[in-house]
Amino acid sequence: MIKSTLIKAAQASGKLIQERINGKFSIEKKAGPNDLVTEVDKASEAVIMEIIRESFPDHFILSEEIGEVKMDSSYKWIIDPIDGTVNFANGIPLCCVSIGVEKEGEMIMGAVYNPMMNEFYFAERGQGAFLNDQPIHVSKQTEVQYSCLVTGFPYTYLDMENGPLEVFSRLIRKGIPVRRLGSAAIDLCWVAAGRFDGFYEHRLNAWDSAAGFLLVEEAGGRVTDFKGNHYSPYQPHLVATNGLIHEELLRWISNTHQ
Ligand code: IPD
Ligand code: CA
Ligand code: CA
Repeated sequence: MIKSTLIKAAQASGKLIQERINGKFSIEKKAGPNDLVTEVDKASEAVIMEIIRESFPDHFILSEEIGEVKMDSSYKWIIDPIDGTVNFANGIPLCCVSIGVEKEGEMIMGAVYNPMMNEFYFAERGQGAFLNDQPIHVSKQTEVQYSCLVTGFPYTYLDMENGPLEVFSRLIRKGIPVRRLGSAAIDLCWVAAGRFDGFYEHRLNAWDSAAGFLLVEEAGGRVTDFKGNHYSPYQPHLVATNGLIHEELLRWISNTHQ
């Protein structure tokens, strides 16, 4: 029942995103001039919440635009109604809906859907990771020097020591390809699918990574904070890799790789 509700909610949201991506919609600014929310983010959130509420009126919900809907429940749904809103607002088809389901503090299921590419990612703890119902696996790359990486940049806090710009420049100066897609959920799914060998980001929220980090783990990869600790989506730092380059990428981020 949880699985079918999760899939139904992600599909309904994805349909809305696809229908509206090149249309007209109002855009508001949040924390800064480029931190956007569109009326479609809110509409997507409403559709998802309605579908969850039909089956599970007593589950806890954490969703980016509305915040926490606290309930005394062991289940929590963590929703990003559009991940990659700036891409969406510009008609760039690299955006998605991301929904994770936690039970007693452990992520048990996740779905990420990019309807423009017809890519539906799904993972259930212990059951593997899937793209359009086909099993997916992380890559086999063993060295950062030969890896294809991806990252993202927050709208603020860019210039700290070993911050987003320093780490990016460190890798780029060595000729290592580091992409920037603009959707952390897609970045994670593409690590799970073996397209990227690793992803790191300095300032994420729980809704950005909830579903995607489970996808990476279930595809055979590893996800931690910057110190190599077991990943929690309630802290900002994330490193997700195929597992084989993980320790080395942690050293590049902390500048102790030489
Ligand atoms: C953003 C995207 C982006 C990441 C930002 C997130 P939003 O989410 O995931 O890739 O770099 O940190 O805030 O605002 O488009 O949902
Ligand atoms: Ca997001
Ligand atoms: Ca969002």
